[in-house]
Amino acid sequence: MRIAISTGGGDAPGLNAVIRAVVLAAHQRGWQCYGIRRGFGGLLGNDGIMTLNTAAVRGITHLGGTILGTTNRGNPFRWPTAQPDGSMQEVDRSADLVAAFRASGFDALVSIGGDGSLKIAHDLWIQGMPVVGVPKTIDNDVVGTLVTFGFDSAVTTATEAIDKLHTTAESHDRVMVVELMGRDAGWIALNSAVSASADVVLLPEIPFDIVKVCDAIRHREATGRHYSIVVVAEGARPRGGETQLVERRTVGTVDRIGGIGGRVAAAIAERTGKETRSLVLGHLQRGGSPTTFDRLLALRFGAAAVRAIAEATYGVMVAYTPPTISTVPLADVIGRTKHVPLDSDTIQTARDIGISFGD
Ligand code: F6P
Repeated sequence: MRIAISTGGGDAPGLNAVIRAVVLAAHQRGWQCYGIRRGFGGLLGNDGIMTLNTAAVRGITHLGGTILGTTNRGNPFRWPTAQPDGSMQEVDRSADLVAAFRASGFDALVSIGGDGSLKIAHDLWIQGMPVVGVPKTIDNDVVGTLVTFGFDSAVTTATEAIDKLHTTAESHDRVMVVELMGRDAGWIALNSAVSASADVVLLPEIPFDIVKVCDAIRHREATGRHYSIVVVAEGARPRGGETQLVERRTVGTVDRIGGIGGRVAAAIAERTGKETRSLVLGHLQRGGSPTTFDRLLALRFGAAAVRAIAEATYGVMVAYTPPTISTVPLADVIGRTKHVPLDSDTIQTARDIGISFGD
């Protein structure tokens, strides 16, 4: 068997651990593995294919990023292609991709990615490619799996950052607003805000009212706590308002969202008169080593993907369904977002310990 591995979309801590587990589990069965560089670019462009033998994956479990490279501009169904007049257009190159996959003698594809990449994996499977998906995203918004790898590492980074904001906020009697990743779901913001004792947390799932946010800060002020920490998911939006876009999608790109933290900070300063600072934690949440939890989850996912291939189970995604790793049909996963449920115990816990959602 010749197994191709691809990493697509934004990177997440644990990608290399998945690659290592796939390669080693395949090697045990006498199979060979190959890495498609930069999403699917290695089969459609100039990026090439890497031979992934046991030496190629030695010592990479703890390394962040992906040794294969990745891109969020690499959808083979909407491949950015230069036109004769110099303009760029999205062209469906999926048939070329399937042909290149077959010409390379590959028997199966392990596609490691988030919602976008898993949709591509599903559509390639429909076109006849034997595919197993592995769910990756720091945002934890893929349905069908309790968690994705990368999430725990991102929450750990965010929690440590909020811990550090406490001391400087308290020293200066300031409000500190920190914007965290989470386009469509507030998992990172919620879990880190609760773990690091933030005072307000704003999620995409709960549109906020700036008056209520300021009420929470004034209440703290009135009870002798002259500083506050406000955690904002990048996809949070005011009641009746829109998600904040930094850049609108053009050919081959995805919308970039962000900037809500700065807006919230300006509104707090204006309404409360409190000195307020904001920061965006950004890609720090995607960088660095995976936590122990993410390493183990990623290794389990990679090994489970190879077991699925051994059983010729394709068109599926490996999933964390404690206590085991199982497979779920990609068709049940794509086009859906795993939001934080409004009745989640963590939301209730936050409310019980006095954290405001600005609602
Ligand atoms: O999907 C993961 C994610 O981290 C989002 O939370 C964020 O909006 C996006 O990636 C940022 O991606 P980029 O690397 O294109 O800035």
